[in-house]
Parts: sequence; C-alpha cells; structure tokens
Amino acid sequence: MRTRITELLGIEHPIFQAAMSWASSNAPLVIAVSNAGGLGVLGAGPMRPEDFARTLEQIQAGTKKPFGVNIPLNGARAAELLEIAFHKRIPVMVASQGGPREQMPRFRAIGTKWLHVVASVEHAKKAEAAGVDALVVDGAEAGGHPPPSQVGTLVLVRRIVRATKLPVVASGGVADGAGIAALLALGAEAVQLGTRFIATPEASVHDNYKRAVLAADVHDSCLVGPASLPVRQLRNAFTRKFDAAAPAEREALFNAASLKKAALEGDVEWGKVEAGQSAGLVDDILPAAEIMQRLIEELEQARRRLASL
Ligand SMILES: Cc1cc2nc3c(=O)[nH]c(=O)nc-3n(C[C@H](O)[C@H](O)[C@H](O)COP(=O)(O)O)c2cc1C
Repeated sequence: MRTRITELLGIEHPIFQAAMSWASSNAPLVIAVSNAGGLGVLGAGPMRPEDFARTLEQIQAGTKKPFGVNIPLNGARAAELLEIAFHKRIPVMVASQGGPREQMPRFRAIGTKWLHVVASVEHAKKAEAAGVDALVVDGAEAGGHPPPSQVGTLVLVRRIVRATKLPVVASGGVADGAGIAALLALGAEAVQLGTRFIATPEASVHDNYKRAVLAADVHDSCLVGPASLPVRQLRNAFTRKFDAAAPAEREALFNAASLKKAALEGDVEWGKVEAGQSAGLVDDILPAAEIMQRLIEELEQARRRLASL
C-alpha cells in the first residue's frame, strides 16, 4: 500500500509504532517495528543524553530501515537530545510540544524528514505554515497527552485532512487493522498505534503495566491533571484520589505521581499508567513483529470487506 507517507519515509506499510515515554524509550521495540516494514519511533523524552546516544547506535546497528525519534521540544533536556539526534543523522524526527522553526532547517539539510505532532486545527495550520513534511494528529482517545479540546480522532483527523495539504498520520484509539482502515478512509496516509505496542515483550515497561493494559476495557481510562494539558491514563488509586481532592490539592497530587513510577517500578496503583481507550481492544502480549503481521492482515481483510459490501 502506497501513500504519501510511505513514499516520503521509504517505509513498506503505513503503520507507526507511536513514541511512548519509557515504553518505547529502548532499541528493541523500534528495531522490531522498523524491520517489519512500519516506522518504529524512539520516545526520547525521558532519556538521559548518554542513554539516548547509545540507544541510537543500537537502533542503527539493528536496522537499515527508517526509524523515528520523538523529542518534546520544550523538554528540559531537549537541546542536548537534539544535538545528539543531529549528529547521529536520524532519518525521521517526530517532534512534539513546541514550534519547529528553530531546529527544523538544519535537520532538513542532512535529509531528516520532520513530522510534527499536533492536537488542534490551529497547531496543524501553524506547523504547515512552518513547512513541516507531515503531521501526526492526536485525537482524544489517545494515551499520553490527548487534545485539551477532547475532540476525538474520527473528527479531528477529518477536519485537519480537510484544512491542510499535508499528509496526516492519524493517532489515538487504534489497536487493529480495522481501525487503520477506518482512518485511511478518512484521508490519513498512515496510522500510529501506541497502547497496542505496550503489550509486547519489547516494550520497556514493568510487567504490571502490561497486565494493566490487558485487563482494561474501553471505559477504564480517564483524563487527569490540568485541563490545559491533560493526561490519559488507566483509572487507579491515584486518579480516584485526584478526582476526590479539593482543587487546591490537585497540583501537588498530580506532581507526586509519575509515569516512571508505573513504568519502571510497576506501581500501577499510584503511578501514571498512561494508556489510551484502545487498551480495551488489546487482549494479548505479542512480539511486535507479530503485531505488525496481524495488523497488515487485518487491514487487508477490512479493505476486502468494504469492497464486498
Ligand atoms: C505510555 C505512553 C507514553 C507516551 N509518551 C509520549 C511521548 O513521550 N511523546 C509523544 O509525543 N507522545 C507520547 N504518547 C502518545 C503516543 O505517541 C500516541 O499519540 C498515542 O499512544 C496514540 O493513542 P493510542 O495509545 O490509543 O494508540 C504516549 C502514549 C502512551 C500510551
């Protein structure tokens, strides 16, 4: 299947493994997805610069295919991470949080394709005006940071496909090939899956986290934190305490919990177990290459089914 995204990036299938802090902050998941013909994306946000540099070397040794790196541009270590990514000549940048104008030109000059994560029509238009190669559009179902507006993927992707000329990678709420087909039908030219890839042996989170994703149904996630930058995570003791707390106490509670606590220590009651609504569509832990294989088959089935109606 060819789209402007597969052509732009030189990948076989219009499928991304989404950047996920901790879960995809390691080489094996990225390598497995890229070698299977999708785009593996390293979540560099929480990484120490020396770990980031070493992991990039492992990825470059493990695959000759394109891979992506996500750097939140307003993160505390962004400058150092960008410097390393530039010197390692990464093939694809998936930038989030912050504008692309300052960094994009030098990456472009070495051949890096620059994709920008957006969650509103306004930011999509700004990124297009800045000249990015493509957009990643996150809808409200997404784990991590969905749009504060809470507009769902179905509506936001369609709106942004209509509002810009750029190729769009749709993100949020997809865990199988039927979901990929649905978003391609809306005009997206690739689809990214985060939560589905948490349930893999390669994802670098604690087994308790993976089990929590398997146990969750579609209604078991919620939004927590400031309305201007909410986090979607699975409901647990922390989110219940947050919801019950007086508004003045909420900031301290929010700051005391962390994704790291859940991801590395396995504390899925008091940590931030970031995951999307699509957790309810995930029933098994499978190697990432097998997930890719299954997604491709399901996508084909969905296309045949539609054609036969
Ligand atoms: C555990 C977790 C961590 C995430 N970390 C990041 C991140 O560091 N940077 C980013 O741009 N998006 C991050 N996201 C959002 C994903 O890139 C993606 O938009 C989302 O997972 C898509 O929704 P889905 O989980 O329903 O597939 C994260 C999502 C999850 C579930």
